[in-house]
Amino acid sequence: MLDDRAAGNPLQSIATEFAIDRRTTLKGAAAVTAVGILLGDHAHARSIGAPLHPVVPEPNRAVVRTTINGQPFHLTIDARASLLDVLREELDLTGAKKGCDHGQCGACTVHVDGLRVASCLTFAAKVDGREVTTIEGIGSDGELHVMQQAFIDHDALQCGYCTPGQIMAAIACVNEGHTNSPDEIREFMSGNICRCGAYPGIVAAISDAATRMRRG
Ligand code: FES
Ligand code: FES
Repeated sequence: MLDDRAAGNPLQSIATEFAIDRRTTLKGAAAVTAVGILLGDHAHARSIGAPLHPVVPEPNRAVVRTTINGQPFHLTIDARASLLDVLREELDLTGAKKGCDHGQCGACTVHVDGLRVASCLTFAAKVDGREVTTIEGIGSDGELHVMQQAFIDHDALQCGYCTPGQIMAAIACVNEGHTNSPDEIREFMSGNICRCGAYPGIVAAISDAATRMRRG
């Protein structure tokens, strides 16, 4: 409604009408902005200078076809993931342990195409088309691997945290032909640390198992 002063003046009436419309519009915009903020609408939040949540990019994905402990796997994984994390977190194969996550302790040792690798330093995407063996896959028909039995026989562990990695490295060490003396075993097992200091038993177990594996 226009007031009496504006009634006879077309310019005044337009100005008054504009003022009403402008006030209504501003009120409406403020209400919409408030609702937007309450609902977490970042477009509205940005318009009044509120901080934005960081934009998280979609992680890069990689498709990996691999064989793990004789079983085929077709995985879609984060291309940046380590083999250790995929084994432990996605496939529930928790035998390989995370000790240092920096390639310095050997607790995460597994085999890729028969060769020992530190799975914490190996991109899971790199095992595409390859065969992975973990501690869960070395026994057969419910029987322990010769190396596992030798570790038990020689009391080659205390807390056991390093043991899966020690056993995987030890099997590789035998297959590489580096078990001809206790010194050679110590040298070629030096990448596997045992914080409990079970080294005498570990060397004895490897020496014993090497003899039996060569026979077998
Ligand atoms: S966890 Fe991989 S070497 Fe220590
Ligand atoms: S048995 Fe405890 S770290 Fe090796």
